[in-house]
Amino acid sequence: HGTSKINTAGRLEIGGCDTAELAAKFGTPLYVFDEALIRRRCREFVEAFRATGFQFQVAYASKAFCVMAMCRIAEEEGLSLDVVSDGELYTALRAGFPADRIHFHGNNKTPEEIEMALDAKIGCIVVDNFMELHLLNEIAKEKGAVMNILFRVTPGVEAHTHEFISTGQTDTKFGFDIGNGSAYQAIREALALKHVNILGVHSHIGSQIFEVDGFRLAAERVAEFAQTVRQELDITFSVINLGGGFGIRYVEGDSPLPLSQYVQAITGSIKSLFAKHEYPLPEIWIEPGRSIVGDAGTTLYTVGSTKNIPGVRKYVSVDGGMTDNPRPALYDAKYEALLANRANDPNEETVSIAGKCCETGDMLIRDLELPATEAGDILAVSCTGAYNYSMASNYNRLRRPAVVFVRDGEADLVVRRETFEDVAGKDTVPERMRKQPV
Ligand code: LLP
Repeated sequence: HGTSKINTAGRLEIGGCDTAELAAKFGTPLYVFDEALIRRRCREFVEAFRATGFQFQVAYASKAFCVMAMCRIAEEEGLSLDVVSDGELYTALRAGFPADRIHFHGNNKTPEEIEMALDAKIGCIVVDNFMELHLLNEIAKEKGAVMNILFRVTPGVEAHTHEFISTGQTDTKFGFDIGNGSAYQAIREALALKHVNILGVHSHIGSQIFEVDGFRLAAERVAEFAQTVRQELDITFSVINLGGGFGIRYVEGDSPLPLSQYVQAITGSIKSLFAKHEYPLPEIWIEPGRSIVGDAGTTLYTVGSTKNIPGVRKYVSVDGGMTDNPRPALYDAKYEALLANRANDPNEETVSIAGKCCETGDMLIRDLELPATEAGDILAVSCTGAYNYSMASNYNRLRRPAVVFVRDGEADLVVRRETFEDVAGKDTVPERMRKQPV
């Protein structure tokens, strides 16, 4: 997919760059992003919305992969940005992302985060709970400001996805429940506050979703709620945000819809549901993360030791693992991979790819068909663009890998590899324990 292909040397090439050369130049593990594919995904969403005639914002959910260069692409492609922490907000602002297109999420925003958002004059805060609503109003009052808000509501829709990452149920830490009246109450309270301006509501039903029924049902509940609120509290929402969650293909058998179909389903149901109530058509916002960057990322590893247990399993170890991709260990996530430096060689054996961390669960892929591997081979694991770099850790004091963007035969470093100084340089030793100057 994207600009990936096998070149005449029999090697995997991405964005016109030979991945074996990238590995030699930048070292491994290495995250390689196909810039053209990221841009294509951004455009697919924007064009699908344009075709519907709706006013819209496509906000890239930066938690999937938040680095300054990615913020630049999001801005250049006309996207807005969803941030969930002061760190993501800082990254976006430092990259020059327009503050008025930033939306701030989270179930426990600190007073400092709220101040930072107000000072930066961001576009909107997605208010999650009563404490936050009143805190925001107080801080905005002190600053003589008015902040645009959406309410995060839980429509009670459960998307078909992994239990740990589903956030749309009623039993969730996020948001105001529509079903038990707390969403209604929140809006009533907000109407009495002078330093917040209600734009509308937000709902997010889960992640890695393959059908549109969940979005339809969420839209339905939100539309009913909007109608109730308009009749009883006399407020009309100008924005409906249906969150992210659009699935991507990691392995054979994953069957996501084309992005345009998610957009059409969402806009179609909003249109008919709101028309039914003669409700003025709101702007529609969405927040895709995974579907923007997921399949644009590939991680390159160098193959090291192997262990063959005859009749049981052959382990092939690589120089990264759960530190750069915690998803298999956390969610039992599946990935595909190929030998990047010998991509045309026929598969000869079934192996399992192990990471280098000191724990048994550090397995990246089980039962992968590969050519016979040798130490020094380069393994390319695909679809690692989302929730890999952003969830990477320094477990075992490994240094986090570098990130490069490739395009038209050029590779640009967008995050340098960590150094030992990055790993241990934040430590300090109490003077009474010191053996040498630190
Ligand atoms: N909006 C909200 C409010 C969210 O909570 C999320 C993801 C998104 C948008 C973006 O969802 P996406 O389009 O990327 O599915 N670490 C997990 C995924 C956690 C998703 C959390 N919320 C994973 O690696 O699968």
